[in-house]
Amino acid sequence: MPALDQYLTAHAAQFEAELCDFLRIPSVSADPAHADDIRKAAQWVDAKFRQMGLASEIIPTSGHPLVYAESAVVPGAPTILVYGHYDVQPADPLELWTSPPFEPTRRDGNLYARGATDDKGQALTHVDSAQAWLDVHGRLPVRLKFLIEGEEEVGGQALEEYLVKSASRLACDCVVISDGGKFSRDIPAITYGLRGIAYYEIRVTGPNRDLHSGSFGGSVTNPATTVARILSAMVDRRGKIQIPGFYDDVVPLTERERQQFAALPFDEAKYFAEIGADGAFGEEGYSALERRWARPTYDVCGIWGGYQGEGAKTVLPSKAGAKFSFRLVPNQSPEKITAALRRWLPEITPPGVKVELLDSHGSPAVMVPLESRYVAAAARAIESAFGRAPVYTREGGSIPIVAKFHEALHADVLLLGWGQDDDNPHSPNEKFSLADFHRGIKASARLWEELGKLT
Ligand code: BES
Ligand code: MN
Ligand code: MN
Repeated sequence: MPALDQYLTAHAAQFEAELCDFLRIPSVSADPAHADDIRKAAQWVDAKFRQMGLASEIIPTSGHPLVYAESAVVPGAPTILVYGHYDVQPADPLELWTSPPFEPTRRDGNLYARGATDDKGQALTHVDSAQAWLDVHGRLPVRLKFLIEGEEEVGGQALEEYLVKSASRLACDCVVISDGGKFSRDIPAITYGLRGIAYYEIRVTGPNRDLHSGSFGGSVTNPATTVARILSAMVDRRGKIQIPGFYDDVVPLTERERQQFAALPFDEAKYFAEIGADGAFGEEGYSALERRWARPTYDVCGIWGGYQGEGAKTVLPSKAGAKFSFRLVPNQSPEKITAALRRWLPEITPPGVKVELLDSHGSPAVMVPLESRYVAAAARAIESAFGRAPVYTREGGSIPIVAKFHEALHADVLLLGWGQDDDNPHSPNEKFSLADFHRGIKASARLWEELGKLT
């Protein structure tokens, strides 16, 4: 593909500049104050597709808009749906960013900005590769349908509703998603499993106002103490989740898969050193990779109540709360977990407070079959672009809509992450390596070619 490769080299700076424009839009889906920016990001994506000559539209939904674009039918070649998301996580805590989150900044071969890797940079790799094909050859070797959403980071319902309603419009042979990582910096991966998630908030209410903790303390149930009790009841010191029935539907790791994980060049010591942790915690009897990819886990994501300011204030707070989630594995059902949690909660709640459980969103884990010609085609494309064959990995993160793609469209899913473990998605100083961006575009361009050879 010399002509295409030349085009990619010649347009590298333009692709980077466009990614920077996209990253400057603070499209934070969780925060209603950014509703305008969400709209702008959708418009940006739509304009990009139009400028490439694709038929594109912004689809309003009950939540944030979707952008849908498609290229011409290619007789005899498969139809590929590319999924990505233009929304990003909130950028806080702002003070920990070296450069401002919405002013994309180059440092050491990386582009720093919220959304750089998750998912604006990765999603654009497939858009840019399509542009390259269209400009160089005047056509694509497969029919592409692009579906870019704006509620991934908040577990929104809009896309699911649209998917069910518009299954015939979205009909495809295979879905391609780049919204994750390679195995390591220079080892590309094809991901065949994602964990699911069940996300909750608890709100604990006690006395009708904040009280002097000396005058009243010890005579009433403290909501903040209650939050701590409930949260810590969820898991024991060995990492086992305590909700009765929680593990009932868990598909155990097979010996074969454990061997495959163990054979991957994963350096636990280096992994823990890089994140500044000592690896002291995790479900007993499992390696770090097994815990992250194939075992259910529990994490508190936020916790509040009482005095958070400088110095000490002796107060017994009237209210306290927390957000927490379980990552799920096959075949756990988020609905069953919610029901089990609701049944159990009264047992771990002390008297004297009111506890509300809000069930924010849930999605099951997904596994994609590896014995498919699409996977084989992706492996060839990746090997050609990266100079190395991919390894096969699972992931701890969740992309809620993936299970629905399988259900509603009966399509295979290819999860091809281009990022790295230290890209800091959801954290301060999120980045995308520019080398990964360009390798991703190249791999994507090769992917259209390889998929085009399938009939
Ligand atoms: N891109 C991530 C999911 C991901 C992370 C895939 C790491 C592969 C590796 C996605 O944007 C994300 O953050 N998903 C959320 C889903 C949640 C909000 C329902 C997640 O996993 O927390
Ligand atoms: Mn993402
Ligand atoms: Mn994310």
